[in-house]
Amino acid sequence: MLEIKNLRAGYGAINVLWDVNLNFKKGHLTAIVGPNGAGKSTLLKTIMGLLVPSQGEVVLRHETGNEPRNKPLSSRRTWDMAELGISLIPEGRLLFRDMSVEENLTLGSFPKKQRASLAHNLERAYALFPKLKERRKQMAGSLSGGEAQMVAMARGLMAEPCILLIDEPSLGLAPLIVQEIFSILRKLRQDGVTIVLVEQNTHLALDVADHVYMMRSGRVILDQPADQVDIGTLHELYFALEA
Ligand SMILES: Nc1ncnc2c1ncn2[C@@H]1O[C@H](COP(=O)(O)OP(=O)(O)OP(=O)(O)O)[C@@H](O)[C@H]1O
Ligand SMILES: [Mg+2]
Repeated sequence: MLEIKNLRAGYGAINVLWDVNLNFKKGHLTAIVGPNGAGKSTLLKTIMGLLVPSQGEVVLRHETGNEPRNKPLSSRRTWDMAELGISLIPEGRLLFRDMSVEENLTLGSFPKKQRASLAHNLERAYALFPKLKERRKQMAGSLSGGEAQMVAMARGLMAEPCILLIDEPSLGLAPLIVQEIFSILRKLRQDGVTIVLVEQNTHLALDVADHVYMMRSGRVILDQPADQVDIGTLHELYFALEA
C-alpha cells in the first residue's frame, strides 16, 4: 500500500537514511525496530513530507474501482497527507497543552471531508478510549503520560486514516498502560487499518506485527515476516557494535 524506494534523507548536509527500501502492505501491522538514532523517526518524518528526500521516492498505492493507482508522495506537502489518508502519531505525543482533550481531538479532524463527521468521529474515539470521555474538558497539559498517548492516538484517528504511522507509543509508560495501548493497536488492525509501528521494545513489536524491519545507522538490516523472526538473531543485530 505504501512503498518506499531507495530513500535517502537527512537534515541539511547530514544524511541519515541510506537507500532505504520498505513495503507496508494493506491491512498489515508493520513494525520498525532499531536502536536509538537508527533513523526511525526520520523515516516517518520523510514519509509525512516534513523532510525532503535527496533520493528515492515514497509511493502510495491505492485502488479506485479495480484499478490500482500509484501516487508519488515526495512532492506533496505535509498538510496534504491527511487528505490522502495518512496520519502520524508523533514521538513525544505533541499535544496542545493549553487546550482541552476534546479541542485536541477536534484538531485531528481538519481534513475537509472529515469535518462533517466530527461528532461521529468524537463518539468513535470515546468508544475506543472511554477514559478520554471522562476527561474531555481537562487541559491536555495536565494528563498522565498514558492519557496523553491515548489523546495522541485518538487525534490521529480523527482524520479516518487508511494508514496510521505511530512513533514509539510505549515510551515512558507503565506496563499496564502499554498493554492497553497495544490491545487498541490490535483492534485497529482487525478493523482493517494499515499500521506502521516504530517500537523499541522488540518483544512487544514481534508479538503484534505481521512484518518486521530492523533499522540501524540509517539502513534496513532485517526484513522478515514476524513469525519467521528469531528473537536471538534480532537482539544480536540490535546490540552489535558498529562496524
Ligand atoms: N532535527 C535534527 N537535526 C539534525 N539531526 C537530527 C535531527 N533529528 C534527528 N537527527 C539525527 O538523525 C539521526 C537519526 O535520528 P532519529 O530521530 O531518526 O532516530 P530514531 O531511530 O528515531 O531514534 P530514537 O529511537 O532515539 O527515537 C540521529 O543521529 C539524530 O541525531
Ligand atoms: Mg525516534
